[in-house]
Amino acid sequence: MSKKISIKNMVKEHHNALVDYYTCDGVEPDERKYFESLEKGDIILDLCCGTGRIAIALAKNGFLVRGIDLANKAIKFAQEKAECYKGIVDFIIGDATKIPFKDKVFDRVICTGASLDTLASSSERLQSILEMARVLKDDGTFFIQTNYFLPLKKLIWRTAGFVIKLPVRALKSLLGKDCTGLYFGDSFCGIHFKIKVAGFSHTLSKRELNRYMESAKLEYKLEYKIETDKEYMGDKSFKAKFSRRLITVGHKNR
Ligand SMILES: C[S@@+](CC[C@H](N)C(=O)[O-])C[C@H]1O[C@@H](n2cnc3c(N)ncnc32)[C@H](O)[C@@H]1O
Repeated sequence: MSKKISIKNMVKEHHNALVDYYTCDGVEPDERKYFESLEKGDIILDLCCGTGRIAIALAKNGFLVRGIDLANKAIKFAQEKAECYKGIVDFIIGDATKIPFKDKVFDRVICTGASLDTLASSSERLQSILEMARVLKDDGTFFIQTNYFLPLKKLIWRTAGFVIKLPVRALKSLLGKDCTGLYFGDSFCGIHFKIKVAGFSHTLSKRELNRYMESAKLEYKLEYKIETDKEYMGDKSFKAKFSRRLITVGHKNR
């Protein structure tokens, strides 16, 4: 059997490994602001929900939420954490590129915590946006939060991630037949002393987001947010000085 792994599998195992070591509960200020626009009775899909950080916060506020994620351990963790919200919030293992729900069932779709950045390739990112549009009701809205860097840092990150950060060994093992290509902006984080599986993330450009939104015929607007470390996911132990987010909010082109 081939030892080569796909980026998607790597992302899944990385996030499974993270569960034992780092989960967070806080809600970021821009997320909170979007939540204020939610209406009673809204049915919400938390796409790439991880350990249920947002889904559970929404369930606590009485919203019906479905969370899907590739990482089975993250889903199990979320299910256990949400035990007392059974029926209000449900978590299932699922792929954002093939959302296991019928057309037009959700009032809102959210994709937080830079989850879109962890989708394995450009075609997967586009496919997940098309899927998001498919499951949204005609009057539904969406909220996507991606990482954003200032131009110079972005250039360095996108280039260095692509050229330098990719260890030769990882490159060799990643170029399996499942690995459809390595794109500009892709980066691989190293293997942490506790997390034995490398992580993957793609720094999205605005142009790229525009392309996905237009292909999915979504009306949208982009805005930046800068958060201080104190606010970052409510986790004060997080080392970053601040994190920049690019927020994409919008609705179907009716
Ligand atoms: C950075 S975590 C964010 C988790 C959560 N949204 C939050 O804000 O706390 C990214 C999540 O995306 C998930 N993910 C990546 N690719 C996916 C895919 N194709 N389908 C479903 N989930 C995926 C990962 O397993 C991981 O749990």
